[in-house]
Amino acid sequence: MTRIASRVSQLNGEGALAVYSRAKELERQGRSIIHLELGEPDFHPAAPVVDALRNAVAAGRDRYCSTRGVPALREAIAEYLKRTRSVDAAAEQVLLAPGCKMALSLAMMALIEPGDEVLYPDPGFPIYPSFTRGLGATAVPFGLEEKNKFQPDVEEIARKVTPRTSAIIFNSPNNPTGTVFSQAALVKLAALAARHNLWMISDEVYARILFSGEYKSIWSLPGMAERTVIIDGFSKSFAMTGWRLGYAVAPVEVIDAMDLLVLNTFTCAAEFTQVAAIEALRDSTNAVEAMVAEYRQRRDQFVAGLNKIHGFRCQAPDGAFYAWVNIENTGLSAEEVQKLLLEEAGVAGIAGAAFGPGGKKYLRFSLVSARNLLEEALERIQRVSVHWRAAVLR
Ligand SMILES: Cc1ncc(COP(=O)(O)O)c(C=O)c1O
Repeated sequence: MTRIASRVSQLNGEGALAVYSRAKELERQGRSIIHLELGEPDFHPAAPVVDALRNAVAAGRDRYCSTRGVPALREAIAEYLKRTRSVDAAAEQVLLAPGCKMALSLAMMALIEPGDEVLYPDPGFPIYPSFTRGLGATAVPFGLEEKNKFQPDVEEIARKVTPRTSAIIFNSPNNPTGTVFSQAALVKLAALAARHNLWMISDEVYARILFSGEYKSIWSLPGMAERTVIIDGFSKSFAMTGWRLGYAVAPVEVIDAMDLLVLNTFTCAAEFTQVAAIEALRDSTNAVEAMVAEYRQRRDQFVAGLNKIHGFRCQAPDGAFYAWVNIENTGLSAEEVQKLLLEEAGVAGIAGAAFGPGGKKYLRFSLVSARNLLEEALERIQRVSVHWRAAVLR
């Protein structure tokens, strides 16, 4: 008899992967597909980072290493966070993991009890509610609504706090909306967390992919360093998705707890990727700036084009690399538009319900294809939009 632990039934998958599989199937049938479904940069790590990896393997840096991560990388992360977002944290407050998701799940395992309530953004990264439920806790959504420019309504969040609430998870810039939480919202969230003694899990994986201004972390607000866990990593900022390297920054007691979880699970992140990551943080070729400049151009071009499509409405994202498009005026459901785009136009995007009920009237497109492909995607979408133009006129 096969018996699977009940916690697994509490988990959900990620919608992007289902669309990706169908898109791949269509490609195998000879169809041309423009992939705008996955959140995977089309860039690769800068040459010095690849060299550093090769050298690290050649130098024998392929052993078990410290459960918390290579000390020189932890130092480099503390220095990098100070330099790029004025976060004041010591190396002993940093812990490495294979990917941001793993850092996130370790932090959640360390901080969330069964029966707790955890607030999370809707729409948002689907893993937040999924893993919360997997831990036996209740996931409580708070809205990011277009009428508020997708900023959180902190009064709504405050109304949803109960004596069982233990943490707020949020992600700024947000996947999928691209919202950078305003300083006013961060200040109010910090006050709420202090008032109710809550943990704040701040997923900053897109912090470097910012189209204007300087990133402000909630960690830096007064009193927040003792109740915040920053989650970040190398997947998006340094185009190192497959390298699987992320980290958490947290009070030392939290890092100690996560360290024990590391020891009981994956032992350590790969040593050679960690050594090469020091080179990524050094960014000697200014690769991050060049990549963000390219995303900015793609955003400007693609969002302008989307807003010319009948029934589509899209606010320009302030960060991350997604376009979040309201499709309600097409008269079709997001799932119908997703299907038409994929099956008839060969453009893969994701119906927004994959990011929570708040995403029901939206589609997400990733800006991870070259500008000529984005231009072609717009032409293809324009062509199939006759379907809903005709339906609306009928
Ligand atoms: C908000 C958010 N957090 C975390 C991750 C996962 O990052 P990693 O690939 O480093 O595990 C993603 C990836 O899509 C994301 O969008």
